[in-house]
Amino acid sequence: MITKSSTLQQLPADLDRERLPRHVAVIMDGNGRWAKRQGMPRIMGHRRGVDALKDLLRCCKDWGIKALTAYAFSSENWGRPLEEVNFLMTLFERVLRQELQEMMEENVQINFVGNLQALPPSLQAEIARSMEQTRQNEDIAFTVATNYGGRQEILQACRAIATQVQQGLIHPDDIDEVLFERHLYTTNVGDPDLLIRTSGEMRISNFLLWQLAYSELYVTDTLWPDFDRQEFHLALRSYQQRHRRFGKV
Ligand code: IPE
Ligand code: IPE
Ligand code: MG
Repeated sequence: MITKSSTLQQLPADLDRERLPRHVAVIMDGNGRWAKRQGMPRIMGHRRGVDALKDLLRCCKDWGIKALTAYAFSSENWGRPLEEVNFLMTLFERVLRQELQEMMEENVQINFVGNLQALPPSLQAEIARSMEQTRQNEDIAFTVATNYGGRQEILQACRAIATQVQQGLIHPDDIDEVLFERHLYTTNVGDPDLLIRTSGEMRISNFLLWQLAYSELYVTDTLWPDFDRQEFHLALRSYQQRHRRFGKV
């Protein structure tokens, strides 16, 4: 499942180590379609999707990428059939429990972002435990967006800042990008340099609305469970061919 062959562990020769994205974000889409194509129920796609994510995390670590952020469950995904939602919640919890030891061994710092209070209490407990235990790890910052919505994130930041203004702690003129970013979930990890979306959809689906302002976008038709090191290699090659101008000439 996890590719350990030494050739794949090394950064491919056509990639420039100096110009790798520091932070990669991924919208892991297409699990359901993948399963349907195999004649299996949608949930099997989610199961295989976990394997793809584990491999990508390991690959980022092997290739020297310092931050990976994955969209696991959007605030809109509650609208799916209850059976699928329940399966996903149970899956997240089980995977977290199973992988904690390995994340410690691999020096991965895991962080969850989103409205976590609305998740099942047993999942919340597992999240808290894994975040606490991996807090000091520093090889890679792995962020999982769960019950995450970009608009909701911006609103909660606004509420927190408005409260500070109301309490007289800050003045409205103090509100700038730096202050605002301190109230976002991603305050420690910053903006993604590269956003990858699988399954061909050309949209953001309420992911990291603020943070993606100047990210490079890469969309592949490959469905998430099939997204492997070769696919990631292609995404990085595309990224390295871009000229990031940030509005300049
Ligand atoms: C992405 O795959 C995983 C989640 C949103 C949890 P989908 O479940 O959206 O798969 P498709 O898009 O229906 O194929
Ligand atoms: C985005 O995928 C959310 C996640 C990958 C968790 P969706 O499948 O929910 O997005 P839409 O519905 O195609 O926009
Ligand atoms: Mg989808």
